[in-house]
Amino acid sequence: MGVDIEIYQHNREAIEAHPMSSRIEMIEGSSIAEEVIERIKDVAKNYQRVMVCLDSNHTHDHVLAELKAYAPLTSLGSYCVVMDTTIEDMPKEIFQNRPRGPGDNPITAEWEFLKDNPHLVVETGGAHSGSAVFFASLLELNAHAGGPKDAEVWCVEIDLRSHNREALVAHPMYPRVRVFDGSSLDADIAATIGRKASSCERVLVVLDSNHTHEHVLGELRLYAPLVTVSSYCVVFDTVIEDLEGVEFTDRPWGRGNNPKTAVAEFLRSNDDFVVDSSIDEKLLISAAPGGYLKRVK
Ligand SMILES: C[S@@+](CC[C@H](N)C(=O)[O-])C[C@H]1O[C@@H](n2cnc3c(N)ncnc32)[C@H](O)[C@@H]1O
Repeated sequence: MGVDIEIYQHNREAIEAHPMSSRIEMIEGSSIAEEVIERIKDVAKNYQRVMVCLDSNHTHDHVLAELKAYAPLTSLGSYCVVMDTTIEDMPKEIFQNRPRGPGDNPITAEWEFLKDNPHLVVETGGAHSGSAVFFASLLELNAHAGGPKDAEVWCVEIDLRSHNREALVAHPMYPRVRVFDGSSLDADIAATIGRKASSCERVLVVLDSNHTHEHVLGELRLYAPLVTVSSYCVVFDTVIEDLEGVEFTDRPWGRGNNPKTAVAEFLRSNDDFVVDSSIDEKLLISAAPGGYLKRVK
């Protein structure tokens, strides 16, 4: 689908005469007009893979509005390509009498848009710290792409082994990770994390510690309220409920007593969150079916 505010007659004729025309739908109108955005959203929802390419009016405000409207349509693993970011690096004089130029162009819009990404990831259950390092490396990458420079992972682990701690401390991503030694249900730890989260623009929570119903329910009550609207509380190992015939002989959890049953109880009295099953549908295999709780209000 293509959008242009003014499709010249000769261009329209050339598109219609082209052998590829059956694959093209052109919309005449502003890319940030409500009705155009709605029409595109309506079509995009029928497709599994969506790529977005922004190449219209190159002012900061226009591109930012486009990013807000269309970047969320991009499917996981696909791209939102923002054209003409190079304006930022070109001499000011070239853009005299133009609405765009260095300081006001697609890349400045992209920087502002990316600032909305998570500032804090809270993880319960760090184990070998692999997931904490992974989250930290994504925050690092995001910082290089214009996201918040100070984004961190705060992780609560009751039993961080000394060799894991040594490896974590030696890791280049360690400056972004803070470990709390203790239980995720410890009131003081939860309060400290709560204070930090309240100063953050975006907060994502990942629960992956003790998988009993009572423990996860306790964590949901403590940490889900820290999640910012449109972000997620990800509850791991909900899959335990679906594992027919599997005995967890050396664990206190199992079918009927696990993260999925805790999620069900939590959601019965909380409508700030919904299960975002669209994420499950994108995954071939998951340890967290029904565990992606999106904060909607
Ligand atoms: C499933 S592992 C975490 C895996 C890790 N998130 C990853 O993806 O690599 C669970 C961890 O939770 C920790 N744990 C168990 N009970 C806990 C509690 N009450 N508070 C914090 N951590 C706990 C365990 O010591 C264990 O290391």
